[in-house]
Amino acid sequence: MEIIIQDSATNGSQLAAQKIAKMIKQNPSMVFGLPTGSTPLKLYQELIRIHKSTGLDFSNIKTFNLDEYLGLAPEHPASYASFMWKEFFSHINIKKENVHIPNGLVADIPSFCQDYEREIKAAGGIDLQILGLGSDGHIAFNEPGSSLVSRTRIKTLTQNTIKDNAQFFDGDINKVPYHVITMGVGTIMEAKEIMLLAFGLNKARAVRDMAEGAISAMVPASILQMHEKVQVFLDEDSASTLKRQDYYRWAYAQKPDWQKG
Ligand code: GLP
Repeated sequence: MEIIIQDSATNGSQLAAQKIAKMIKQNPSMVFGLPTGSTPLKLYQELIRIHKSTGLDFSNIKTFNLDEYLGLAPEHPASYASFMWKEFFSHINIKKENVHIPNGLVADIPSFCQDYEREIKAAGGIDLQILGLGSDGHIAFNEPGSSLVSRTRIKTLTQNTIKDNAQFFDGDINKVPYHVITMGVGTIMEAKEIMLLAFGLNKARAVRDMAEGAISAMVPASILQMHEKVQVFLDEDSASTLKRQDYYRWAYAQKPDWQKG
């Protein structure tokens, strides 16, 4: 796990976006796993800026979103489908048929989840999975206690996550659905490469547990220690409780040119 500490969320997001733009230029048919939430907003804004200013081409890119609330139609303003179109897809030249987001209104949930897994495989697997981090250490909607080999499935949210995500439901915890469809931890771990972004003081504990704690289902993100290609983008606040901060800064500063990407 490579820890990259930048002085602000803006700089961390821009650095991640530049790396992604470079990867797309090298492989214009990349398959992405994408997150929602407040964390990736600046990253998406920067990718949109690069698309508009340099013509970065998304026309052959395929995407699979991590999760969706059950019971919300794609048109619902707080659905992750709405979020993705509003904040990212409508501003780039991605093809609608290349976008995959779990359907929050599906009737047969288990068979939908199996199909989602099959579609990821049929696309050749996820080349780059981008992740945020829940304040309790969850990734996608894999709450603490999730099996570390879980696949796409239904999950019940914790009250902590419901409280965190109420900001997208007019601040009203009663409007947040209890159930979601989420890619599993095992699904995420099959991505060839992973970038996780976490900014702000309320992520500091989860970042420390993920990167320097024991691998445990109680902190689903800690399984990323077992993935061979993970980059973690932090700001000063989210990095503030890491024990080995000095080493991470030093290692990044010494990185050989051929390894910078
Ligand atoms: C939600 C999402 C996650 C996201 C997390 C953090 O639960 N399902 O994918 O990483 O919240 O959200 P935020 O970026 O708003 O802090």
